Amino acid sequence: MAAKPSIGPFQHLLLPLFLLFCFGGVFYTYYNHTLNLSRFSDVPVSTHEVCSDKCLSVFQEIFIKNVTNSSTLNNSLVKQLPAITKPDVTDKNKENHDRDTVILIWSWPFGFIFKAESCSPQFGIKGCHFTDDRSQYHKAHGVMFHHKDIGDDLPNLLNMPRPHHQRWVWMNMESPDNSQRWAGLDGLFNLTANYQRDSDVWVPYGRIREASEQDKPFEIPPKDKLVCWIVSNWNPNFRRVKYFNELSKHINIEAYGRHFNRYFSDDDYVATLSSCKFYLSFENSNHKDYFTEKLFNPMKFGTVPVVLGPPRENYEEFIPAESFIHVDDFKSPQELAEHLTLLDQNQEAYEQYFTWRQHFTAEGLIFGLEHACHICDHVRKQKGYRVVTSLSKWYWG
Ligand SMILES: *[C@@H]1O[C@H](CO)[C@@H](O)[C@H](O)[C@H]1NC(C)=O
Ligand SMILES: *[C@@H]1O[C@H](CO)[C@@H](O)[C@H](O)[C@H]1NC(C)=O
Ligand SMILES: *[C@@H]1O[C@H](CO)[C@@H](O)[C@H](O)[C@H]1NC(C)=O
Ligand SMILES: *[C@@H]1O[C@H](CO)[C@@H](O)[C@H](O)[C@H]1NC(C)=O
Repeated sequence: MAAKPSIGPFQHLLLPLFLLFCFGGVFYTYYNHTLNLSRFSDVPVSTHEVCSDKCLSVFQEIFIKNVTNSSTLNNSLVKQLPAITKPDVTDKNKENHDRDTVILIWSWPFGFIFKAESCSPQFGIKGCHFTDDRSQYHKAHGVMFHHKDIGDDLPNLLNMPRPHHQRWVWMNMESPDNSQRWAGLDGLFNLTANYQRDSDVWVPYGRIREASEQDKPFEIPPKDKLVCWIVSNWNPNFRRVKYFNELSKHINIEAYGRHFNRYFSDDDYVATLSSCKFYLSFENSNHKDYFTEKLFNPMKFGTVPVVLGPPRENYEEFIPAESFIHVDDFKSPQELAEHLTLLDQNQEAYEQYFTWRQHFTAEGLIFGLEHACHICDHVRKQKGYRVVTSLSKWYWG
């Protein structure tokens, strides 16, 4: 008798809740299904695989950048990936941000958290404020949307009021093959932040820059391995896997990753990478300007990259021509293997691949932070009207 009245008020909620549950299930199934209907039906794109690929590389990048400096990134958060934790980054002293350029981070890309205080020490960009508090939307000068997280929100985004001064920024570092093409993206954003050179806010995966006084003089690290490869996203249909399978018939390759059931700890990443004479910088897909940390990490740590990706000319726009080996330079994987074997026996010829290090060095990006800081800078300085009317065509062709 006593229990019944307390249930009473909720009884009329049960049917709607049940229906919601059912529709939720149907929607989820449908959504999962459409995800698999990638336009490259022979290359099933599992978002989980893409994330784990990215998460691994991003983790490596963070390790490399040595941003244990807590003002930049919290390493223990990184270790919790891909779980998205929401730390306390709410404005503790709101009154101080009146003159700052406010960037609303719609969602933390892959769960990576970063703080605007790092923009100044890392990039010399001052006066930025980042928030993930969507109730601050109307105050934001810019809103950064990570492509992967847009999908579910899209119907809402299309109907959001748009403050006249506010720029929406499409941020994405995955290649077109690994980015879901949604209808409704055209005309929605004011700026793009991407690895492609013609983005409004260009954020490449890495750069070659002039060496400065602060950089230690370069020495080729000691080598005890010939060719190495770390692969987190093994897909037998990918060109890189087919190439690897052929190449490994002709030369010994130290391969790491789930597929090989061979791992090393994160702390050993740099030591492992730099102990290899060559590293297979094989991208997961072939697109203009799409060369990732798979290229820049070996360059940074004194290993010669053997690249598979866009054509050599595209690489040469951004890295010295004599600093890398392109698989297309050879008629077959066997010929490449022969060349690598030759270089293994000729130290002088091998060292030629490092002459660029006399004047230059390589550096990676800080995922998310670098985008947000440069978006802040762009939004503050460039007041011109801009709408990205054909994002789909520009990105997916
Ligand atoms: C990072 O830098 C700090 C201080 O600059 C140093 O003590 C530490 O060993 C470095 N960590 C790694 C992983 O390189
Ligand atoms: C950490 O960042 C602060 C600025 O936020 C800087 O002054 C300091 O030198 C950095 N420390 C290291 C070890 O990079
Ligand atoms: C990093 O995050 C963890 C978990 O949120 C927290 O316990 C720790 O104090 C943080 N460390 C720094 C240096 O901010
Ligand atoms: C940003 O784009 C929207 C359309 O997506 C447009 O209405 C708005 O005026 C643009 N704002 C600026 C500052 O370019």
